[in-house]
Amino acid sequence: VGATGRAPADVLIDGETIRAVLEPGSSLLGTDVAASVDRVIDASGKYVIPGGIDAHTHMELPFGGTAASDTFETGTRAAAHGGTTSIIDFSVQTYGQRVQDGLAAWHEKAAGNCAIDYGFHQIVGGVDEDSLAAMRALPDEGVSSFKLFMAYPGVFYSDDAQILKAMQVARDTGMLTMMHAENGPAIDVLAQQLVDQGKTDPYYHGIARAWEMEEEATHRAIMLAKVTDAPLYVVHVSAKQAVEQLATARDKGWNVFGETCPQYLYLSLEDQLGASSDEWGAFEGAKWVCSTPLRARADGHQHAMWQALRTNDLQMVSTDHCPFCMKGQKDLGLGDFRKIPNGIGSIEHRMDLMYQGVVTGEITLERWVELTSTTPARMFGLHGRKGVIQPGADADIVVYDPNGHTSIGVGLDSSGNPTGRAHHMNMDYSAWEGYEIDGHVDTVLSRGRVIVDGDEYLGAKGDGRFLKRGLSQYLL
Ligand code: URP
Ligand code: ZN
Ligand code: ZN
Repeated sequence: VGATGRAPADVLIDGETIRAVLEPGSSLLGTDVAASVDRVIDASGKYVIPGGIDAHTHMELPFGGTAASDTFETGTRAAAHGGTTSIIDFSVQTYGQRVQDGLAAWHEKAAGNCAIDYGFHQIVGGVDEDSLAAMRALPDEGVSSFKLFMAYPGVFYSDDAQILKAMQVARDTGMLTMMHAENGPAIDVLAQQLVDQGKTDPYYHGIARAWEMEEEATHRAIMLAKVTDAPLYVVHVSAKQAVEQLATARDKGWNVFGETCPQYLYLSLEDQLGASSDEWGAFEGAKWVCSTPLRARADGHQHAMWQALRTNDLQMVSTDHCPFCMKGQKDLGLGDFRKIPNGIGSIEHRMDLMYQGVVTGEITLERWVELTSTTPARMFGLHGRKGVIQPGADADIVVYDPNGHTSIGVGLDSSGNPTGRAHHMNMDYSAWEGYEIDGHVDTVLSRGRVIVDGDEYLGAKGDGRFLKRGLSQYLL
């Protein structure tokens, strides 16, 4: 199955790459292919797809006095189990740090530890003359995109002047600007006022981060990109009004793109408000604190996200994988939702959760592949190597069993008994506890080697290589 169609086929792999895609039972140069290879994987009755590319992950991201709980080792292994064979993680430059030093530190965290291939985007947390100069050198390092934040004043924030200057660098170099589009200064005031009124539960995180704040920032980002003549990619879109902003710009022919994440397709503010447990009470809702926040289902946001995936007003689905444990991490925000580290862990479940959208008729099988693999490769300069099953591409392949089943969860119930649900992420809970998927990742190949067979991991840390990416191949 590819982004443009499906057909029965044999895939011939030679070493790390795909040699040929053949009609079933073909001979090649007069020899029976199946008889002359050293291994045959029987995928009959199953889908053979290019390995997933998760273009938005945060291994070890420092946040709120702690750091995301998956290392490159644990996070990429979980990704492999879930049929994702490449990630693009965010290297971090914080204010006062040199961009080159931030990138070097990220290389150090990842090198020799990854189960699958990995690339980097660069978070620029402090735009100044120094970082602007350093950004111009990033494409040569294979880092062809950077992320700016309109949220989080005092942490990663860029004001409009800084955004404009960074976008001018993007225009000059061909880089892609990725934007966290929420009006941070206004959100921080609203959040403070809620806390002053004693509204400190996790639920109020989503009230402070109102959709108006996402719509406004998305519009502002689009106009700054327009006046700069630079392409824009908006990350973790969750508000239907933000999608409307993107759609309006795209209808004018502007180079404006967006991703959403599984949490904005399936989970809601109502779920978060209703969440309560013996252990945590209403603080249970902290499990789903992320930014942008979960939105109200009653207002139609989830429906609008699926619709935008069909109409190509949103082009991709990434996870924004940013896991934190409840104990010792999320619980830093007991009594003040602002101190809950922001993020949800989903890297292992993206391919499954999006496949469930095929089962329920939200998207086609081909669109599933396009949203999770083919477009991420094109968007971020990996086309031809990744995201397609064609001669010359890396043999990153997933055999997906539509007759299999996946039960998502942490694996143990509250008394510590196995539930038959499992994940491999380094988290003490699952944001997806209880989700059932009508399909299963059967076999995963990374550059020609089987790294997951059934539920068994056969790879090793350090298998994954750094991906030097080119410029985006998706722009108009
Ligand atoms: O809640 C989130 N999304 N945490 C990760 C940081 C970001 O803004 O992507
Ligand atoms: Zn963000
Ligand atoms: Zn993120």
